[in-house]
Amino acid sequence: MDGAAGAVNPIPYGRQWITEEDVEAVAQVLRSGWITQGPRIEAFEKALVDTTGAHYAVACSSGTAALHLICLALGLNEEDVVVTTPLTFLATANAARFVGARVVFCDIDPLTFNLDPNRFETIAKKATGRKKVVIPVHFAGLPCNMERIRTLAENDGWLVIEDGCHALGASYDAGSGNPVKVGSCTHSVMTAFSFHPVKSITTAEGGAVTTNDPELVQRLKQFRNHGTVREPERFQHPELGFDRGVPNPWYYEMTELGYNYRMTDLQAALGRSQLQRLPSFLQRREEIVSRYREAFDENPLLDFQVIPAGVVSANHLFVLLIDFEKLGKSRRQVMEGLRTRGVLTQVHYLPLHLQPYYQQELGTKPGDFPNAEAYYKKALSIPLFPAMSDENVDTVIQAVNEIVKAKDDG
Ligand SMILES: Cc1ncc(COP(=O)(O)O)c(C=O)c1O
Repeated sequence: MDGAAGAVNPIPYGRQWITEEDVEAVAQVLRSGWITQGPRIEAFEKALVDTTGAHYAVACSSGTAALHLICLALGLNEEDVVVTTPLTFLATANAARFVGARVVFCDIDPLTFNLDPNRFETIAKKATGRKKVVIPVHFAGLPCNMERIRTLAENDGWLVIEDGCHALGASYDAGSGNPVKVGSCTHSVMTAFSFHPVKSITTAEGGAVTTNDPELVQRLKQFRNHGTVREPERFQHPELGFDRGVPNPWYYEMTELGYNYRMTDLQAALGRSQLQRLPSFLQRREEIVSRYREAFDENPLLDFQVIPAGVVSANHLFVLLIDFEKLGKSRRQVMEGLRTRGVLTQVHYLPLHLQPYYQQELGTKPGDFPNAEAYYKKALSIPLFPAMSDENVDTVIQAVNEIVKAKDDG
């Protein structure tokens, strides 16, 4: 694709890949007569268990819902504290706020862009709360140092929740030769996933929580469905729930204030179909990232995320750190230049402590999290999705090389 063709059909920063098999899987559900939460949910949840290695998965309506369900299942409230990275999508911190918990941000490691365990160690010793929760985010698909975070958390009575919304399919191996999959909850209580169209797989909108704790599964499912229970052994009013010792078939009880965070069978069927192609999606993402790294490695104006040994990223995003000052162009000018060459880009993310809401809520200000801010000053995500053709990748590389060129390169 040349520049002109690219301008007509610009390459987005991320996009789903839907095949005829996916379409057929959804069409079958439409023909089946059962389109809300039904049998396909269980099948999708089973497939997620097989993929992540966790004992249980609970599908829901979005990654945001997954994070909110986690906070509800843990019973968090105003007396509790949630530590997370400022370098994440709004939903990670917002979920804590939905239940009234206090949010404390912890700066990132400037190399991996993930929550810095050393800084967490300091915060963990100081922060107080009835329940204390840390939510590391596997940023751009790169797993955090979970063993370290788990050890620190355990020492000071913290619960670990993973925001794996970028990282379905990622893994890490601390030298045992036994890779740990993100979502297996080996070092956490629960993991949240998102299946938004730019993620590892998509269900259009959708999300899930994985865990190894059956009691949490019960609570997650209850909060997913208006806080109701349908299991007769959990009824609080046996005189209403039973007729001569037999449970009444229509009867359910609401014992908590819950939500409608259900996923539909249409989405679950799409998710299960997509999961079958997760390995090839991940492989294609890896190929594209290798080409980018090779192409941009020598450019003195460019830098990117460092992947520690033994860590396998899901390669959700490819973020270029561009030295705009040395380049002599603003980020907007670079975005415009790339756009005219058919390459669309995005910025992930304005650090959350600089969002007006959090500034107001927490009193945070510029300068509070210097690593996240230094990252933000330079960050630009270039296209990365499995359906990208080799020509698309060439177009992106050529466009970046043309626009991000050191002055003395001529
Ligand atoms: C890190 C992170 N957490 C949570 C979410 C929320 O997921 P969803 O968009 O499915 O609600 C996202 C989505 O972009 C995300 O990137």
